Amino acid sequence: MKNFLETNSYRLLKEHYNRIKGVQLRDLFASSPRRFDEFSIKFEDLLFDYSKNIITSETIELLIGLAEEQKLSEMIEKMFSGEKINNTENRAVMHFALRQREKDASVDDVFQVRNQMRNFVNLIHSGDWKGCTGETITDIVNIGIGGSDLGPKMVCKALEAYSVGNIKTHFVSNVDGTNIVETLKNLNLERTLFLISSKSFTTQETLTNAVTAKAIFLEKLAKEEKDIAKHFVAVSTNEKDVKEFGIDPKNMFVFWDWVGGRFSLWSSIGLPIALQIGMDNFEKLLDGANAMDLHFKNTDFRENIPVLAALLSLWYTNFFNAKSHCVIAYDQYLEKLPDYLQQLEMESNGKSVSRDGEALSYSTSPIIFGGVGTDSQHSFFQLLHQGTQLIPVDFFAPVNSLNPVGNHHNILLSNFFAQTEALMNGKSREEAKLDLEQSGLGAEEIQKLLPHKIFKGNRPSNSFLYKKMTPAVLGSILSMCEHITFVKGIMWNINSFDQWGVELGKQLAKKILPELSGKEKILSHDSSRNGLINFFKENKE
Ligand code: F6P
Repeated sequence: MKNFLETNSYRLLKEHYNRIKGVQLRDLFASSPRRFDEFSIKFEDLLFDYSKNIITSETIELLIGLAEEQKLSEMIEKMFSGEKINNTENRAVMHFALRQREKDASVDDVFQVRNQMRNFVNLIHSGDWKGCTGETITDIVNIGIGGSDLGPKMVCKALEAYSVGNIKTHFVSNVDGTNIVETLKNLNLERTLFLISSKSFTTQETLTNAVTAKAIFLEKLAKEEKDIAKHFVAVSTNEKDVKEFGIDPKNMFVFWDWVGGRFSLWSSIGLPIALQIGMDNFEKLLDGANAMDLHFKNTDFRENIPVLAALLSLWYTNFFNAKSHCVIAYDQYLEKLPDYLQQLEMESNGKSVSRDGEALSYSTSPIIFGGVGTDSQHSFFQLLHQGTQLIPVDFFAPVNSLNPVGNHHNILLSNFFAQTEALMNGKSREEAKLDLEQSGLGAEEIQKLLPHKIFKGNRPSNSFLYKKMTPAVLGSILSMCEHITFVKGIMWNINSFDQWGVELGKQLAKKILPELSGKEKILSHDSSRNGLINFFKENKE
């Protein structure tokens, strides 16, 4: 792996880009009736259509050439064989092992913990697990942040339709007291179980919320310290600190340092998911992810969905100079997908030095943003269609709704199909003029309005269409997203598996915290920070 700007493939791609950059998608479709067949892949219940990208078959060949020069196959092999490819933390990267079938297991412990999860989920669902007043558990409060929150929260929402029993999951992540206070307001503590989820068990936000939850529980419900065992369990890699917090190690679900936080929903961090949808459905989620792992590992790059999707993202970032990437789900169940992908992609690939610590002279992760269709259409789509930047869009949509009601789903999907068409084709000056003429406006008015009515089009998108939202389909989609992130990291020659960039702010906050108590004026920072802190202190009630 090297600086990809120095590869022969990059030089060839740059020349190719200069030839192709002005090509119109409309013309590419007009000149090739088989374009959809050429640039789409079916994988189980999922269809990946990448035909609406500014590419030809030559682009794909050149991008694959770049992947080969960057030794992508070797790195895939290294990851799947458990080599320590997270070089700055000296760790293996083995989230794939969490979803392997038992017969192919790389790590036996995975199955022990999964059994422990199954037993626990069964106890809660059967009502055999009782709270300290003898009530059964109906509400699960997951206290965690980042990867210990976003993945499980997104999946619990996405698979809401598969919920079993009357278990409700709630998520507390923010250290803002409002989050825990508002969450607990309407819950009956007698029926509530707290999952303290933290890989490190040192994260300030999670521990602060956990201490508050414990204090509220001891004040309002518990008669004795040992009642805690019936209402608090922990998910962590840090047994020592879990014990110190007062949670019985019997009620602890472990995972391992080779699982990165943002890749951990498949581990015991997925316990809230398993509690909500049952262990059988949780295992279907794992199976879907495993199927995508095998596809990624074993399929030629020309037919490999994560590889192609990653190379296309790089094509826009590093050749078209795209700064952001939009994700739109025409599926209400995926409303939290953009939040989850923000951490996955931006925490992984928001880097500016190479694996060897050299400053990079090319862009890495784009800014990920998005939302659900049709809401996003009425919010920021204006910029996608007529703004000054090129923003590639990934669309996700189910063929079948899990909530068929009236004509909703056809209306929803017609919007999805229409948006991808509008982005691609736009509306030419002639078409816009004709529209205005047909609406009966006079020549002067038409002249004035015309520039505002033109859509340049030629805006690329991928479509991911799946038969319906199921645990297996979701597992495949998420595993695909993880591998896309991985491939981009390899191409950019960065380590996608550390996140040192989040440390500095944390350290400074720890220094500032004691300064916020007491009356004395703060003068030790720059004038802005002193001014802000002193305004806070003067006005604090
Ligand atoms: O803030 C960064 C981070 O380390 C994330 O990578 C991680 O998912 C999150 O904090 C939570 O960490 P933990 O699970 O150790 O509490």
